[in-house]
Amino acid sequence: MKMEQLYSGKAKTIYMTDDPTKLISQFRDSLTAFDGKKKSEIAKKGYCNAQISRKIYEMLETKGIKTHLIEMISDTEMLVHAVEIIKLEVIVRNIAAGSITRKYPVKEGTIFKNPIVSFDYKSDEYGDPMLNEDIAVALGISTYEDIEQIRNIALKINRILVEYLDKRGLLLPDFKLEFGHKDGEILLADEISCDTCRFWDKKTGESLDKDIFRFDKGDLSKAYEEVARRIVPEIFE
Ligand code: TMP
Ligand code: ASP
Repeated sequence: MKMEQLYSGKAKTIYMTDDPTKLISQFRDSLTAFDGKKKSEIAKKGYCNAQISRKIYEMLETKGIKTHLIEMISDTEMLVHAVEIIKLEVIVRNIAAGSITRKYPVKEGTIFKNPIVSFDYKSDEYGDPMLNEDIAVALGISTYEDIEQIRNIALKINRILVEYLDKRGLLLPDFKLEFGHKDGEILLADEISCDTCRFWDKKTGESLDKDIFRFDKGDLSKAYEEVARRIVPEIFE
């Protein structure tokens, strides 16, 4: 049973349930970029992202990745295990795009020989600064053991996703993951969607993700729906 709101983020609202070990994550149509400086509402965004995320989490579960997903309770609401969120944004990169091309001398589109995993401190107050293992441990954000495990899970997810998306005509330049603890285990939390990944069309190289909103590159609803059609075609039947 859905009870009071626990937390409202930039794109999702979390509700409590009558079971303290379970929460409801509702995907909304609101969208922000650049630390909330740019905001909008896009029809069907929450629906597309919820369905894409659900399908990817179900697929990852079949490959041995533990996620917080329990089941969908509506088109945009996911029942999830309550986890203690680890305050790290885990970013995996295969092809240079976004902030790495602004901060370092690497051109957009450069294919990395090996995937890059990096960590940002999940903190709106501090503007999500990048950190390394030593900083994360010194600040009490995580432990060396957890960080190593998270890195290995992130790389495994990357291998699975690159192959899965390739079959659907999509390249995966980069994406962001979040993890949480539950009963001594590390679960994949948050979402994997057009808001948290870069997806490029394999043929045209066109962005089919939030970069359309960040950089006014076209029709975001159309792009999110296109990704949903490739990943969850059954919802359009
Ligand atoms: P970046 O190029 O801005 O560092 O983003 C790398 C990837 O992480 C990209 O796929 C978008 C995703 N991301 C988020 O999901 N949330 C964030 O707050 C940021 C900065 C990036
Ligand atoms: N951090 C998110 C992004 O730009 C949302 C935001 O900054 O408002 O991807």
